[in-house]
Amino acid sequence: MCGIIGYNGFRDADKVLIKGLKRLEYRGYDSAGICVIDKKLKIYKDTGEISKLEKNIPSFKGDIGIGHTRWATHGAVNKINAHPQLSDDKKIAVIHNGIIENFKILKEDLKNKGIKFKSQTDTEVIANLIKYNYKGNLENAVYSSIKKIKGSYAIAAVCEDEPDKIVGARNESPLIIGVGDNENFLASDITAILKFTNRVIYLNDGEMCVIAKDEVTVFDEKKKKLDRQEQMINWNFKDAEKSGFPHFMLKEIYDQPDTINQVLRGRVSEINRNIEFNENVEDLLKNGVDSINIVACGTSYYSGLVAKYHIEQFTKTPVIVEFSSEYRYFGTKNKNSLVIGITQSGETADTLGALREAKKSGCRTLVVTNVTGSTATRISDAYILTQSGPEIGVAATKTFTAQILVLFLIALKIGVNKNEIGPGELYKHILDLKELSRIVREVLENSNKILDIAYLLKNAKSIFYIGRGVNYPLALEGALKLKEISYIHAEGFAAGELKHGPFALLTKITPVIAIVTKDSTYDKMITSIGEVKARGPQVISIADEDDIEIEKYADFVIRFPSNTRHLSFIPIIVILQLIAYHVADMKHCSIDKPRNLAKSVTVE
Ligand code: F6R
Repeated sequence: MCGIIGYNGFRDADKVLIKGLKRLEYRGYDSAGICVIDKKLKIYKDTGEISKLEKNIPSFKGDIGIGHTRWATHGAVNKINAHPQLSDDKKIAVIHNGIIENFKILKEDLKNKGIKFKSQTDTEVIANLIKYNYKGNLENAVYSSIKKIKGSYAIAAVCEDEPDKIVGARNESPLIIGVGDNENFLASDITAILKFTNRVIYLNDGEMCVIAKDEVTVFDEKKKKLDRQEQMINWNFKDAEKSGFPHFMLKEIYDQPDTINQVLRGRVSEINRNIEFNENVEDLLKNGVDSINIVACGTSYYSGLVAKYHIEQFTKTPVIVEFSSEYRYFGTKNKNSLVIGITQSGETADTLGALREAKKSGCRTLVVTNVTGSTATRISDAYILTQSGPEIGVAATKTFTAQILVLFLIALKIGVNKNEIGPGELYKHILDLKELSRIVREVLENSNKILDIAYLLKNAKSIFYIGRGVNYPLALEGALKLKEISYIHAEGFAAGELKHGPFALLTKITPVIAIVTKDSTYDKMITSIGEVKARGPQVISIADEDDIEIEKYADFVIRFPSNTRHLSFIPIIVILQLIAYHVADMKHCSIDKPRNLAKSVTVE
């Protein structure tokens, strides 16, 4: 959603803020703005991308300021509603990520006190509330104001009369402090400050902070000073660069051989012939896992569906996968169940809500996430990091691969714990896993054919993806990737379901992508392809290198290396990601920042 950055140090604040905003643009980007203190509050904001803001911005003098990229929740996308928002006396500026639920009541109240409003945003209400409570000390005014606010927020505020500090506060929206030497930062996201520091302090819900040049102070919800240790982030600034690729998404697809190694490192031991997690995770996976609920959204939800096949197959444990937004309010919370939350960002509001509900009901919770220190890691009993480095492209690619691989390891581990997988079988899996990175590298090196297929698909109005078993959620994810970045309508179906309705939509001009693997689903997939062909569409099949037969049924075949056994889901997803990427690229779409989408959805 929205991105926040604050800077207080010795550099030109405007330059630091713009650099940070460029890194945050993937969180939301319908408008952006900065405020620098140069005796007075100097503000510049505009609609559109940060590059536009950067081109037109006057040069501000000042070494303290705040900046924001907006993804509209309250009020239309225009300059007036962009952040920072000012108090009516123009002395206090605020940036905000989240939703203030009682903003209408607060606004009416402030209007009755004579305060004038210019925008439709809930953020302007916060700025004026702070002004109303201001009696010469900004942190006291912010403290009194957040006590009146209901909802989710990460805010940063500056005041013309106290030009030496930024005050931040958070509730259910991410906010971190970046610690430097004679400079300090505030940000919604590590990537915004990674160029300057990798020392961070995480704020918890209800906490506040004051960012001075040479000191940061954290307060709890009663305004008592806290002693907070900084943590080192092992992400590298270079990881957040395009490294010569035209888009972050393509770079992140090509990162995947390394991503796989990162996921396996320290967890898959050929010497011990074992899968190893840290103690907290091992305990959760050992003790009476009778049933599992998986909660997640979007692509992470499809990871959950992939995992369901593996966990049920290897462990005979029933798995229910639910959208976080549904589980949160309706799902059955059985306290003997292990609840696994999957979230790349670790900040998705719906998934955090679902995990909190699960905890409240006494369930044990495990999180699979990519972000160290994210809220999800702090509200769950244990977490596993996908260790993929920052993912900047809005469409998840390498983190999806990392999630399904981590979940595959979880499935193996529970299978071993329940004696459903013996040592011999586990060792075979371990040897297969060790080959995976090489297999994906091979797929990437031989991906030229995908360009031809993308050319064939780029003018389609609608595309179907079909698969059976674990290939069904891959079909769903392949279709989601395509629609997100190319804006072509695409749907994933369980191949056996086509005849129960979707066939009505099939015409000669509806290409069908069929995922075919040489396992128990093979013959049925061939039947489904036959049924599709009989209705006229062209069929593009993703199939095993050794599968000679498939040429008889499909019009085009994209191959993945043979002998991948249980792991074919990994090369297949890489192929599906490349199809989506190349189609979108040929259509000149905004691949890294698709319209109306944000990387991290921190509001409900
Ligand atoms: C799609 C995509 C989204 C996210 C979803 C959940 O490419 O990235 O569907 O998967 O918004 O986000 P996380 O995983 O951060 O909870």
